[in-house]
Amino acid sequence: MSKGGLEDVIVAESAICSIDGAAGTLRYCGYSIDDLVAHGSFPECAWLLWHGQLPNAQELNGLRATLRARRDLSEGMNFLVHGLAERAAPMDALRTAVSAMGIDDETTDGNAPADLDLSQDRAIRMMAQMPVLVATYSRLREGKPVVPPDPDLDEAANFLWMMRGEVPSNAEAKAFDACLVMHAEHGFNASTFAARVVASTLTDIYSAVSSAIASLKGPLHGGANTRVMEMLLEIGSEDRVTQWVDDALARKERIMGFGHRVYKTTDPRARILEQLSEQCAELAGNRLWFELSRRVQAEVNARKPLVTNVDFFSASTYYAMGLSPEIYTPIFALARVAGWTAHVLEQYRNNRLMRPRAAWVGPEPRSWVPVEAR
Ligand SMILES: CC(C)(COP(=O)(O)OP(=O)(O)OC[C@H]1O[C@@H](n2cnc3c(N)ncnc32)[C@H](O)[C@@H]1OP(=O)(O)O)[C@@H](O)C(=O)NCCC(=O)NCCS
Repeated sequence: MSKGGLEDVIVAESAICSIDGAAGTLRYCGYSIDDLVAHGSFPECAWLLWHGQLPNAQELNGLRATLRARRDLSEGMNFLVHGLAERAAPMDALRTAVSAMGIDDETTDGNAPADLDLSQDRAIRMMAQMPVLVATYSRLREGKPVVPPDPDLDEAANFLWMMRGEVPSNAEAKAFDACLVMHAEHGFNASTFAARVVASTLTDIYSAVSSAIASLKGPLHGGANTRVMEMLLEIGSEDRVTQWVDDALARKERIMGFGHRVYKTTDPRARILEQLSEQCAELAGNRLWFELSRRVQAEVNARKPLVTNVDFFSASTYYAMGLSPEIYTPIFALARVAGWTAHVLEQYRNNRLMRPRAAWVGPEPRSWVPVEAR
């Protein structure tokens, strides 16, 4: 019998991502996350995850051009985002919009997943348009004019441009690109597993990604980054940290951004994000949220040996970039779509329906009792 939560259960073979929880290392297709952040870009990593190899210059330029060319939303999708911005919460809006992309897709054929080229094409479309959906939704929510995508900018810079209406500095665009790289993939986490289970029925890739977004929304998964920022804003100043942490732990609350099922020593992404958070604080000329994060980390670790996870320092990093906290989990999704779709394609390539079983802990067989005799 497993420990619950499928902990340590091997459910499939995969060549996409390897994690050593004890050593605190993460690799995409063999390349360390440190190398990918230092030398790679988000489109380059997406290609790596999809194809198992780094792209050559021609392949990379081709993908970058395709992503830039495929950002425009159809009239129908635009109309939908306007409606969603009026009434839907961010992750509900994104889940609904990605599901609607399946209807909006002119090539839609409910039973086409076996066509790997078509599914790959749809993966590129989602990667190109999810940032546009999120930025358009966010601008409308804030009552600001929508900023159209800029075909001269790569994914990271274009997203910041569309969110803020000003072209980011190279340093900011590079920092945000590093965030996308670090969020692009992470093995059999809950949302990726959800996508693979759904894909194993041979349904289409939009359906699989919609279910992944539904899973990511939860506070124990991607929803944590928004809550980290809410926590920092609630604490507000360094002198309140000790009391806040004591009170939260006394109430047996989970502190968002801490703990991990696999990493038991260090989450390498958190280590890199801590540096990025400081760098972005310097760029913004405000170290408050970075320093506050560090203080919370120290106070929590003085009481509990919990790793700081990817969500913790991404909150202060995004805040320093002027991004609204409610949009942090959608940002996670628009990066992770690279990994989700890589896993869906891997599942399609070697599919067998996922259909596990449960250990029976219910009553012994019993006889039917008519309603009047109960
Ligand atoms: C990520 C997470 C769900 C992993 O959970 P898990 O592997 O199931 O770990 P468990 O729930 O078994 O927790 C083990 C112990 O650590 C404690 N713990 C784990 N995360 C904690 C947190 N964030 N704050 C306080 N205590 C925590 C648990 O209370 C438990 O303590 P106990 O044994 O005294 O009861 C969990 O750490 C968590 O809820 N973190 C906060 C949410 C978050 O940041 N999610 C993003 C993940 S990338």
